[in-house]
Amino acid sequence: MASAVGSAASVSSSATSIARSRQAVSNAQCNLCHTCRSFPLHPPRAVAEIRKRLVTVSAAQQVRLVKTSLDTSSAATFSLSSTHLLTRPQRRTPSCSRVTQRRRASALVVCASVDAATVARDEVSDDYRSRPPQDVRVLVVGATGYIGKYVVRELVSRGFSVITVAREQSGIGGKAGKDQTKAELAGTEVRFGSVTDPASLAASLGDSKVDVVVSCLASRRGGKRDSWLIDYEATKNSMEVGRARGASHFVLLSAICVQKPLLEFQHAKLKFEQELMQRKDMTFSIVRPTAFFKSLGGQVESVKGGGPYVMFGDGQLCACKPISESDLAKFLADCVMEEDKVNKILPIGGPGEALTPLQQGEMLFRLLGQKPRFIRVPLGIMDFVISLLDSLTRFFPSLEDAAEFGRIGRYYASESMLIYDPKTGRYSSEDTPSYGTDTLEEFFRKVIKDGMAGQELGDQAFFS
Ligand SMILES: NC(=O)c1ccc[n+]([C@@H]2O[C@H](COP(=O)([O-])OP(=O)(O)OC[C@H]3O[C@@H](n4cnc5c(N)ncnc54)[C@H](OP(=O)(O)O)[C@@H]3O)[C@@H](O)[C@H]2O)c1
Repeated sequence: MASAVGSAASVSSSATSIARSRQAVSNAQCNLCHTCRSFPLHPPRAVAEIRKRLVTVSAAQQVRLVKTSLDTSSAATFSLSSTHLLTRPQRRTPSCSRVTQRRRASALVVCASVDAATVARDEVSDDYRSRPPQDVRVLVVGATGYIGKYVVRELVSRGFSVITVAREQSGIGGKAGKDQTKAELAGTEVRFGSVTDPASLAASLGDSKVDVVVSCLASRRGGKRDSWLIDYEATKNSMEVGRARGASHFVLLSAICVQKPLLEFQHAKLKFEQELMQRKDMTFSIVRPTAFFKSLGGQVESVKGGGPYVMFGDGQLCACKPISESDLAKFLADCVMEEDKVNKILPIGGPGEALTPLQQGEMLFRLLGQKPRFIRVPLGIMDFVISLLDSLTRFFPSLEDAAEFGRIGRYYASESMLIYDPKTGRYSSEDTPSYGTDTLEEFFRKVIKDGMAGQELGDQAFFS
């Protein structure tokens, strides 16, 4: 699946030659005018860049730009006739009384030619991957979340130049103030702003340049409106604002469950994924992890205290290859630089075989040296509660999210977090890629010893 999606993407930011760049876009249309429908020599990104520059600088500036560029540019020549430029809408033509229409047109022609060469050459030589990490500027949004914090630490430890955006009150329940947030995101340039408001986000970044955006944003609860606000809109805002500052690659923390979308947050994530994949001016790595350790550790302390292990059905309805937060952070950080992760959807789990809830419970009792004691809850109970809440929602719309939380709980109680084959309706452990070294058993041992400190579920405790 990953390679199929990957090959569908049309742009590679890691072009190593202009020839490769030309080939990659051989079917691209010329965006400059309507008369030219096929203009194979212009990479879409170059054309977009030319267009942007032509409308933002005056003709006189362009003539200067042409002169400068001519001195330095020998990378490539692109044949762009004046016809193409003259057919552009008049309002897009820069005004300059001292430059005649004809002169302006020819200036634009040369300028566009040179710019095309320059941009194409930039694509080659200014690939951020050729720079040392300290010169690669990574913007992390969702940095204050469970995974975001680990991603930030990983990027900082790899030497990247990291900018983070946070709310003034962040973290679970908004308990962390500015100072605490700065301490937690040490090693980064912390900017305070709102990802839900493009103007605020843009202002928080000022004119800082960005090479890569990493988004670990997620609705903290998974309610309907909030999911669209964060998993779609805020993530999209981050993409736009990052792109406007030069970002050419977007790394998205998504979820493996979007492959079988039944929940609102999954639809919101999918919509963003689709828009990201359609962009011609940015590449992407969409990371779809299986379950996090924290989502499976919620019963360790109660079982340790003598309680039963609670599971749905026979405990074999759902399975996952859990991945630790630090392994996932490493994988996400790999996506910043590694070319084999560009323009791909990357489902990812932790090491070892998939584990069902029954196997997780048995492991826990074994580690605790206790006799296994399970409570099996029929899924029908959840179905009853959900349908009750759905009926009540008709009269009390404020219960809409409660019903959605019920559906989220039911989904995780019955669907595996593994690669899904829609044709057979089966999940496959073998097809789910593994990464990292941390095991759930080690995690359970740690929680038995130290408790769940640092692994708090926050609002997600409702359905975990
Ligand atoms: N749990 C699992 O087992 C699992 C498995 C696979 C995939 N996933 C996916 O992983 C993601 C969850 O990751 P996580 O646990 O790291 O998330 P998290 O701890 O809930 O963090 C969410 C991040 O988004 C930010 N955010 C949320 N609402 C915001 C708002 N209104 N304005 C500004 N920022 C906002 C939070 O900022 P604040 O700190 O300011 O709130 C925080 O930085 C989800 O997409 C989920 O689908 C989860």
